[in-house]
Amino acid sequence: MNDYVTVNGERFAMFLSEEQIQRRVRELAAQLNDDYRGKTPIFIGILNGAFIFFSDLIREITVDCEVDFFKLSSYGDAKISSGQVKLLKDLNCQVTGRDIVVVEDIIDSGLSIDFIKKLMTRENPSSFRVVTLLLKKTVAKIDFPIDYVGFEIPPEFVVGYGLDYGQKVRNLRAIYRLEPAAHQNG
Ligand code: IMP
Ligand code: MG
Repeated sequence: MNDYVTVNGERFAMFLSEEQIQRRVRELAAQLNDDYRGKTPIFIGILNGAFIFFSDLIREITVDCEVDFFKLSSYGDAKISSGQVKLLKDLNCQVTGRDIVVVEDIIDSGLSIDFIKKLMTRENPSSFRVVTLLLKKTVAKIDFPIDYVGFEIPPEFVVGYGLDYGQKVRNLRAIYRLEPAAHQNG
């Protein structure tokens, strides 16, 4: 795997390797399999970013489960959140009385997950939990706990493994972080 990638002319350095990610995904799944034994949760992925994490995680889940997706947009093509969350695709399932596990790629400002939580708790699920691969804890403004966190990371812009920069590099197997300006070429 390459140690560096260049996206839209900016340099990113390897941050979490494929092996580190895969190991953590299996650990998170093992915990979920324990916690949801005997239940039939609905795993709800947040598109687009979570699609790769979601598909790896769900294949490690051994309890009876269902899946569905929300599609949100907040970033546009920039590196900072627009501060506005738009719902681009709603769920197809009934949430009322069900055990809901929302699957996110990354929680940054916390706006998206806060929006999702408000939307879902209105429908009275029997339980509501969140699993996120990455959490930028120092920037996330949320007043509820994130139940399952893959990695707590510094407040830096990261790409790969579903996460994009201007819609690119979602297909990388590892996660890369933006190099400080001093290390950028040119
Ligand atoms: P939040 O609403 O600010 O918490 O951001 C949520 C969404 O923004 C995530 O689900 C990602 O899709 C996107 N996002 C946040 N931080 C990053 C990043 O560092 N790289 C790429 N996408 C990000
Ligand atoms: Mg996302």
